[in-house]
Amino acid sequence: MAGRILIIGACGQIGTELTLKLREIHGNDQVIASDIREGAEELMQSGPFEILNATDEPHIKEVVQKYEVKQVYLMAAMLSATAEKAPMKAWDLNMDSLFHILNLAKEGTIDKIFWPSSIAVFGPSTPKDDTPQTTVMEPTTVYGISKQTGERWCEYYFNKFGVDVRSIRYPGIISYKTLPGGGTTDYAIEIFHEAIKNSEYTSFLAEDAALPMMYMDDAIKATVDIMEAPAEKVKVRSSYNLSAISFTPDVLAKEIRKHITDFEIKYEPDFRQKIAESWPSSIDDNAAREDWGWEHEFDLEKMTTTMLEGVGKTLKEKA
Ligand SMILES: NC(=O)c1ccc[n+]([C@@H]2O[C@H](COP(=O)([O-])OP(=O)(O)OC[C@H]3O[C@@H](n4cnc5c(N)ncnc54)[C@H](O)[C@@H]3O)[C@@H](O)[C@H]2O)c1
Repeated sequence: MAGRILIIGACGQIGTELTLKLREIHGNDQVIASDIREGAEELMQSGPFEILNATDEPHIKEVVQKYEVKQVYLMAAMLSATAEKAPMKAWDLNMDSLFHILNLAKEGTIDKIFWPSSIAVFGPSTPKDDTPQTTVMEPTTVYGISKQTGERWCEYYFNKFGVDVRSIRYPGIISYKTLPGGGTTDYAIEIFHEAIKNSEYTSFLAEDAALPMMYMDDAIKATVDIMEAPAEKVKVRSSYNLSAISFTPDVLAKEIRKHITDFEIKYEPDFRQKIAESWPSSIDDNAAREDWGWEHEFDLEKMTTTMLEGVGKTLKEKA
């Protein structure tokens, strides 16, 4: 492969598994992990790592030059629930980091960028069911505003400067290897930990809060697929809708109860319920399926059995 890959925000929920996957595909020394903090042992041990702040442009340039980086995956961001508590900090991190990377591509230093967007780009005025690729977008969270603005700038840099930037609107990502980073869909991960430990869970979302979700392996596959697709197949240069499963806390609890029969769920919705209400319930991702062949593998049943097994194993190892 010509040039190495740099992952910024590699120690997070998605970054950790993405880094390991890319190292498996391209070779350990070809994929440089970076973050403002150290991460999981497997990530730290398997290849090069740099402490790097996504807002520190000179340091990003230094690392890019040091390793002859040609592709950047920018995973660092402040997520929806955390961002509501520190709006200006979230805005600065989410926007400044994106501009630094877009500008590196504009000046020809790097060739390709992956930047994740989110279902948070949608708002209360967006059609809630089967939300189309192109539709009304009036996000009401600072996170959603930053992602929507980011999408506009990605498309602008592609049209104006030919920057090869590729993006996906991730739904809520469910996984067990790394804990989630402060999003509104985190309940769908916590519930597995509590179900196994205590057979009960108190949900911070209401029982009928339907949200689009995806198991981590599908999210990683989509990320790898869109980055490997021939440039002409990536027709949307803002960000692609992407979907797999959609469920409510009540439906998930019932699925878990098939395995843990005495599992009980209570509901104490907090400020995150309001964020959830502003987002779609399900997503139309036909554009991704048609343009670059996206297909998901994990349905609710398979996700649930995989999570119960994975979380169970992790908790046993910790005990
Ligand atoms: N996880 C989801 O459900 C989800 C859904 C939609 C979109 N996304 C997007 O995917 C991306 C990755 O999400 P995630 O869930 O892995 O997030 P996360 O919070 O788990 O990880 C983010 C990582 O960025 C690092 N970071 C924070 N500030 C930094 C800085 N200034 N410089 C460098 N690193 C910094 C953190 O230490 C952390 O390791 C984000 O852009 C997020 O908005 C995630």
